[in-house]
Formats: sequence, structure tokens, C-alpha cells
Amino acid sequence: MFYFNGKEEITLDSDNIPKHIAIIMDGNGRWAKKRLLPRKAGHKAGADALEGIIDACKKIGVKHLTVYAFSTENWKRSQEEIDGIMDLLRSYVKKYTERAKKDDVKMDAIGDITRLDLDIQESIKNLTEATKDKDTLNLHIALNYGGRDEIRRCVKKICEDVESGKILSSDIDESIISKNLDTSDIPDPELVIRTSGEERISNFLLWQIAYSEFYFSDKLWPDFKEEDLFEAVYKYQNRNRRFGGR
Ligand code: FPP
Repeated sequence: MFYFNGKEEITLDSDNIPKHIAIIMDGNGRWAKKRLLPRKAGHKAGADALEGIIDACKKIGVKHLTVYAFSTENWKRSQEEIDGIMDLLRSYVKKYTERAKKDDVKMDAIGDITRLDLDIQESIKNLTEATKDKDTLNLHIALNYGGRDEIRRCVKKICEDVESGKILSSDIDESIISKNLDTSDIPDPELVIRTSGEERISNFLLWQIAYSEFYFSDKLWPDFKEEDLFEAVYKYQNRNRRFGGR
């Protein structure tokens, strides 16, 4: 697999493609501001950019893509902006259902979606059901997601299982915790990407990123294109992952 990085042709090692890439899609607001557009237009451009990155992931054989679309902290934004993102999500989920089926993309949500409007919850369920047999790429959209909230919900479930006698507290090991997270069937991400020059994790996948590699891009999310994703994978491939060993 080749791509052009602006200077030279780069070859990606097809045997070392991350199985799971997680992305913090940051910078939509600044992208809109630079163009004197409302923030909502930035989020719309962000949703369009996501479509390009889905295609790029499929091209190189990434199996799981998790994107941070709405965090538990994003409720602090103005009602106008929240409504804008929710409207976008509504139309995106509807519009994307047919395309996902055609493109062989399996989609679901992570996070506590019970706080979203009922019609959105319903269309997410439909989308998950309609694409459940698809196999090329698994797209996980993080909605009302926070790593700490996910761990809190996980602890609650495990306590309930202990109280009901389903498991003993002495049974609790790392795999029981992993299984009770929203990402129970998803391998941990090998690569986490954040755009827009910010270098923070912002409550994203706190348990799952224990051994992830990080790639920070100065590009604003709507400007992040296929070649930027390939560049991130190339940088990942040239790192030496030791998992605490030598
Ligand atoms: C961060 O940019 C982005 C978000 C909080 C929302 C992400 C949403 C999308 C990419 C579009 C919707 C997604 C789907 C799946 C429909 P920011 O607003 O924090 O940007 P800023 O830091 O420049 O203000």
C-alpha cells in the first residue's frame, strides 16, 4: 500500500496495520471560525471528513474505528451547539444506514446513549441492527461517552453480579473489567489520533489506551484527510512497541 506524503512515496506495511484506531476529532469549531461560519458548519464539515476517514480505514484494512463524537462533558456547551450536533447526528445516522450496508460497515455506539433523545436512540438501534452482519470495518461512535463514566457503569455492573451471586469478588480480574466496559468485544486501540494540535486524552477510552501509541496532528479535524491517516499509521509502524518489556 503506497501513498504520497507531499514529498515522497511512502509504503505502509500491510502486515502491521493497527486493528483498532481511535480518533478524537477536534477542531471543528476553529475550522468554522477561520471561515466566519457558525460552529454547526464546522461539525457538518467534521461529519463529512469522517466519511473520508472511514473509506481510508477500509482501504488499508483497519478492523475497528472508534470516534469521539460527543463526550459527557460536551453537555456544557451552548444549547444551540448541542442541538446542532444532535440534528447532525440524526441526519447522519439516517443517511448513513443505507451506505453502511452497501459499504459493509458495521456500526454501533459506545457511551450512555440513554441520555439522548428517544428518536436518536431508536435510529442508533436500527443502524446497529441493520449492519450487524457487516464485516469489513466496525465503526464505533462514542456518544455521551466519558471514560470515567464508562468505568463507573462497569463497576456498578460487576457489583450487581457479585450481589446476585453470579460471580465472587475474588473472581474479578482484568478480563472481567474489560468485558463489562462498552468496548467488551473490541480489541484495545493500538493507535489513538487527536487532531487540532491539542495533546490531551480528554476522558477518552481511559482503560483501553493502557498501551496505545499516540499521534497528534496539527490539522483541524475537517481538514484531516486520507493521506493524514496513512501518515499516522506510517509513524505508528515505525515505533517500537515494548508493552513494558525490553
Ligand atoms: C470537536 O471540535 C468536535 C466535537 C465536539 C464534535 C464532533 C462531531 C463531529 C465530528 C460531527 C458529528 C459526528 C457524527 C458521527 C455525526 P470542537 O467543537 O471542540 O472544535 P474547537 O476545539 O475548534 O472548538
